[in-house]
Amino acid sequence: MHPKEYLRQKLRACDTCYARYVAIKYRILSLLSLRYFFYDLWIVHQSMFWGANSHLSLSQLRAKLLFYYHKIEKGLCMPGRQRLFGIEVIPQILQILESWKQSGFSTNDPVYLGAINSLQAYATHLQAENLDPENKILSKVSIYLRAETPVEANADTPIIVQRDQLTEAVSFSNLRHLYLARRSARNFDNRPVANEVVARAVEAAQLSPSACNRQPCKVFAISDEKLRVSLLSHQNGNAGFGHLAPLLLVVTANADHFFGAIERNQPYIDGGLFTMSLLYALQVQGLATCCLNWCVTPKTDIAAHKLLDIPKSQKIIMYIAVGYAQKQTKVPRSHRKALNDVLEFK
Ligand SMILES: Cc1cc2nc3c(=O)[nH]c(=O)nc-3n(C[C@H](O)[C@H](O)[C@H](O)COP(=O)(O)O)c2cc1C
Repeated sequence: MHPKEYLRQKLRACDTCYARYVAIKYRILSLLSLRYFFYDLWIVHQSMFWGANSHLSLSQLRAKLLFYYHKIEKGLCMPGRQRLFGIEVIPQILQILESWKQSGFSTNDPVYLGAINSLQAYATHLQAENLDPENKILSKVSIYLRAETPVEANADTPIIVQRDQLTEAVSFSNLRHLYLARRSARNFDNRPVANEVVARAVEAAQLSPSACNRQPCKVFAISDEKLRVSLLSHQNGNAGFGHLAPLLLVVTANADHFFGAIERNQPYIDGGLFTMSLLYALQVQGLATCCLNWCVTPKTDIAAHKLLDIPKSQKIIMYIAVGYAQKQTKVPRSHRKALNDVLEFK
């Protein structure tokens, strides 16, 4: 008999010994799994700390620009007494815009145009409120803006939200109905999903909130069967139905859109919010979806990144199986917890 089997049989003969053996085994496994945390730590650390002199990619410049000019946008909406704001971030914004142009990236990019638009609004605000009488910031901003093509007036910032109209358009009961109707489907017919439908859903999901509006998410829509099957083979929750979905979405969030250790969890938070919007946007267009977890070992994560040909900084948030549900598709009841287990007023 194999020594391992012999040991196992001996242990099984004594209940206490066996329980102790199992406890020790799980302890060792849990310690070994610490290496997974190190894998995540390494990627996030590598992605977030760019190095002082590194040449920034377009994606990094966009993230950095959004991060800084969002402070200006916010400042323009603050209630109460007006004060001079933006002293710390204006030099950063101007420097990023300069790097952008030097790198030859398109100045027609919505993020670039958004920054110019915010600077215009900022300059107008400082002047109107006489917040910078000594021209400390205004001079720098004005010089920069003079060299820029003004952004059209239809890009007014800030804008006034029409709350009443919003609540009229979507009642609570309609919204709840939408939530009720979304269920994870695991049976699809073979109708293909048109690219336009996916594009519309993703465009709507882009309206989701994200930390400092950095929008780290990206969706890979895979209808190619070979690639779909390969990607699904690395996921542990699609057995028995994954192959039926004609479309596989991979939602990612780029860790390089975040700048420091305190933001380490942000890709997952923004990624989750984005995905939820995406699910609803697919649902209202008649599609059925099933989220597929990305609970994988580092080896599997690396393999999927290779298949998608994306850097590891682009964290996979989850897959989504998408298709048209078969008629009479059954879904689990999936009871929800009691409200008072989920909500506590303090
Ligand atoms: C992040 C995430 C990962 C999931 N992974 C899987 C999966 O791998 N396989 C699966 O069959 N369902 C998966 N689901 C679906 C859940 O089982 C489902 O959302 C839950 O049971 C509630 O049911 P409902 O979506 O129909 O309301 C996942 C859901 C989420 C949010």
